[in-house]
Amino acid sequence: MKHPTVLFALCTSLATVPALAAPFAQGDAAAGKATVTAQCDACHAGRFEGDPNRIYTRPNHRIKSASALAQQISACNANLGSNLFPEDETNIGAYLNSNFYKFK
Ligand code: HEC
Repeated sequence: MKHPTVLFALCTSLATVPALAAPFAQGDAAAGKATVTAQCDACHAGRFEGDPNRIYTRPNHRIKSASALAQQISACNANLGSNLFPEDETNIGAYLNSNFYKFK
């Protein structure tokens, strides 16, 4: 019979491996929404008849995975010189994923 303490340690360590968590699980979607409203929406809205969210939901939208979304957010941050912190990017990911993309 296996020692119960060993099994317990194994299970708790597996539960904390980030790859098993939902994408952007550590992000704060409300904080991400505030950043997107302040820094991203105006430009996106200008391209989609005033609707800033359609860029994420248009039928031919480009982002097809959680990792692509994380890359796009980082690239926008770098290109725009927004100086977002990594946790801001995670928060934005949480907001965009929970409201629009819904990647698992
Ligand atoms: C100066 C204008 C501008 C700003 C500011 C901007 N974006 Fe964008 N963004 C664009 C354009 C244009 C596209 C569409 C490119 C395309 O059609 O391939 C886009 C596309 C995207 C997409 C992909 C949408 C899809 O097709 O699935 C994401 C995600 C995104 N932006 C996130 C952000 C975030 C987050 C910010 C703020 C930190 C931001 N953008 C700020 C212009 C902007």
